Amino acid sequence: MTTTETATEHHEHLVEQYSAHNYHPLPVVVAQAHGSRVTDVEGREFLDCLAGYSALNFGHGHPDLLAAAHRQLDRVTLTSRAFGSDQLGPFCAELSGLLGRHAENSGPPAPGSYRESWSGRLTVLPMNTGAEAVESGIKVARKWGYEVKGVPVDRAQIVVTAGGFHGRTTTIVGFSTDPDARGGFGPFTPGFVVVPYGDAAALEAAITPDTVAVLVEPIQGEAGVVVPPAGYLPAVRAVCDAARVLFVADEVQSGLGRTGHLLATRATGVDADVYLLGKALGGGIMPLSAVVADADVLGVLHPGQHGSTFGGNPLACAVGRAVITLLADEGPAGMLARARRLGDVLHGRLAALVGHGVVAVRGTGLWAGVDVDPRLGTGRDVSEAMMRRGVLVKDTHGSTIRLSPPLVITERELHEAVDALTGALSDLP
Ligand SMILES: Cc1ncc(COP(=O)(O)O)c(C=O)c1O
Repeated sequence: MTTTETATEHHEHLVEQYSAHNYHPLPVVVAQAHGSRVTDVEGREFLDCLAGYSALNFGHGHPDLLAAAHRQLDRVTLTSRAFGSDQLGPFCAELSGLLGRHAENSGPPAPGSYRESWSGRLTVLPMNTGAEAVESGIKVARKWGYEVKGVPVDRAQIVVTAGGFHGRTTTIVGFSTDPDARGGFGPFTPGFVVVPYGDAAALEAAITPDTVAVLVEPIQGEAGVVVPPAGYLPAVRAVCDAARVLFVADEVQSGLGRTGHLLATRATGVDADVYLLGKALGGGIMPLSAVVADADVLGVLHPGQHGSTFGGNPLACAVGRAVITLLADEGPAGMLARARRLGDVLHGRLAALVGHGVVAVRGTGLWAGVDVDPRLGTGRDVSEAMMRRGVLVKDTHGSTIRLSPPLVITERELHEAVDALTGALSDLP
């Protein structure tokens, strides 16, 4: 560190010189964090209203999650799947139990549906990152299509939606509609058809006898917290039922409490066939993702056909089990109730900003996309102004910022965040 540079500049220079330039972070270098707050290398404190893009739904260093991690660190951290561990089975059983218990909301499959014969037992394929869960879901859907639905070999098609975000692998960016995400990375994996988001008729028209799955975010997170029209997800369910197609819900960001519900799909009264989970499943401590589907769907995978060295490792599973325990509390003090209650406070305050520097607000629970009047500045300008007022958020797509504070945020802190947004809007020229 030179005598003239600040600690922040010192770290930024190291990253600039020795790290790939695939991010454009705010000039905050975090050294420590607790709950909803982070402290940077200069001792400045910030309210974290991004929460690791929802990976930190339970805040930084939640005591139950840290305790589970510490206990497991001293026992065993990795076995690979060549051997068993005493955390894998309980983790899968507990996640199956958590999602299965909530399935009552959505009722039984329609009479005559291909789902009627399924076992009713949810099974879990543990992976690490969200993108891996998506890739795994795609592989499972294709194999199910060939072996169960009878689609001719190598003809499987998956319908996806414009504006969606599902990760960064070559297959996934190949069906992205974001030029930055896909430009320069081709050639891409064939077999994907893109339709407009929120348009059930367009989705239905894209289905062919070779369609094996519809892959959709129940709320598009990275697109700016875009909530589809009411009735869209039930319509997706009906289209999938009619065409014998798997409804694959990417709940990597929307799931596990963010919306005040365990799953955003189920909050609309329908159940997907395949759930993709990630981010918060690892409690912000370990990368942990999962594909969750009926045993009759995941059953298409046999030894040697899919895997991951770290997927389902004991450390991640131990933290995941503690996450499941937090989410299983459906009482008024539980995370889901908290996100619903505080979500109402957040959206009440944000609605009052529309017409006062804000053009539109979307979202549900503790999740909001805020479109700032572009005449005031970009989303980046607003994020920087909020940072100067001690609140961290992230911009997305032009003049949109998204708020996704940890579910443990207090009501007072939430007001602090919206006050900072209000102040930031008035700071802009
Ligand atoms: C809906 C959705 N799916 C998948 C991913 C990819 O997750 P990861 O970054 O852990 O690979 C993300 C990440 O933002 C996401 O929001």
